[in-house]
Amino acid sequence: MGSPRWKRLCLLLLLGLTFSIILYGHYYATLDSSTGPRTASRLLQQEMVRVPPAEIFQGARNHGLTRESVVKSGNPTKESPKQENMNPTKKKSSLCPWSLKSKVKMDPTFGKQFDFDIPVLMWEQRFTPETWDRLKERNVPCGWRGLSYGVIASTVRLLNDSADSRLFAMTGSPDSCIRCAVVGNGGILNGSCQGKEIDAHDFVFRINGAVIKGFEEDVGTKTSFYGFTVNTMKNSLIAYAEYGFTRIPQGKDIRYIFIPSDIRDYLMIKSAVLGIPVPEGNDKGDKPQKYFGSEASVGKFKLLHPEFLHYLTERFLRSEILNTQFGHLYMPSTGALMLLTALHTCDQVSAYGFITENYKKFSDHYYEREKKPLVFYANHDMLLESELWKSLHRVGIMKLYQR
Ligand SMILES: *[C@@H]1O[C@H](CO)[C@@H](O)[C@H](O)[C@H]1NC(C)=O
Ligand SMILES: *[C@@H]1O[C@H](CO)[C@@H](O)[C@H](O)[C@H]1NC(C)=O
Repeated sequence: MGSPRWKRLCLLLLLGLTFSIILYGHYYATLDSSTGPRTASRLLQQEMVRVPPAEIFQGARNHGLTRESVVKSGNPTKESPKQENMNPTKKKSSLCPWSLKSKVKMDPTFGKQFDFDIPVLMWEQRFTPETWDRLKERNVPCGWRGLSYGVIASTVRLLNDSADSRLFAMTGSPDSCIRCAVVGNGGILNGSCQGKEIDAHDFVFRINGAVIKGFEEDVGTKTSFYGFTVNTMKNSLIAYAEYGFTRIPQGKDIRYIFIPSDIRDYLMIKSAVLGIPVPEGNDKGDKPQKYFGSEASVGKFKLLHPEFLHYLTERFLRSEILNTQFGHLYMPSTGALMLLTALHTCDQVSAYGFITENYKKFSDHYYEREKKPLVFYANHDMLLESELWKSLHRVGIMKLYQR
């Protein structure tokens, strides 16, 4: 219905409207937010949701270099341990006018849930006798109960490079916002054509069986972080080999985020840093280079802090499964932990391939050739996660890809 001319006119009007909303949002945000936090929040939310692809590309061009390379090739000043103990993301947030932190603060519910001061990563300087005493009382992944002090201590002490203490190196330009895409493996991405948009982000997080070959148009090619537990990583290599997932993403700029769900994760990260085969346990004899490549600088490997996992589980994903006989098996999914990690470290977050309300329309993974229903494991609570993503999207804290 309607002539093409009318359609074009409508499109123009719509575009004009979108831009004025964005401009107004920019203008508004520069005002003191106390003059009208609710309205400002609504406008910012629209900006986040409706940001046209052109603007995302613009941002990507401006930040063509990854921040880590900016710092490496620039002035290699070593930070003092004192500075290191401060939360680096906190300092940055004040410099990014569009940070999700401002949206969190304006939201009555999420404002109470989020704690941006909580340390995200475990590293040498956070391994104190008090930390050991506290965490040894709690089960994995939220603690170290039953794990060997020797293994934990020797592992964490190896993570002594300041790069182990944060996900991103210091920003190159002072007013930049860190834009992150977190890519789950959900069937919703099949035929989505989101690849370019995903790659346009400063950092791209991928998880477990992240098949890229053959799906570049849908999921992009860039990988900045790969998140996993040793268990999910090895299972993915077995289960998704038939779809082409035969190797963990490798490359100079890729960083690995270990989710410590078992002593295996500590043993693997330790062996990876030392460049030796895993000395004991389930993975005895495994060569870390096989998974992570031969370049194994200490800063390449990041370890999530058990305290952070505890906080995420308690505040964001406290499932009723915890009250059942399967309670001891429960933990948030790998994807959920990566997405929440991004939400605590990036200024803007977009989630792709995560569970949506209409998940039944899509296959379990984007690479399956025939539709398979989403598998619900007893140890995860995907419906609770789905509710969380929906709410975070609704209030504009992140953008959830839906269709
Ligand atoms: C980290 O530990 C290793 C091995 O103990 C040591 O050789 C290195 O100098 C340490 N690096 C820093 C930055 O302290
Ligand atoms: C994914 O998309 C392709 C092309 O549209 C289609 O042939 C295939 O059946 C889809 N896979 C699933 C599992 O829906």
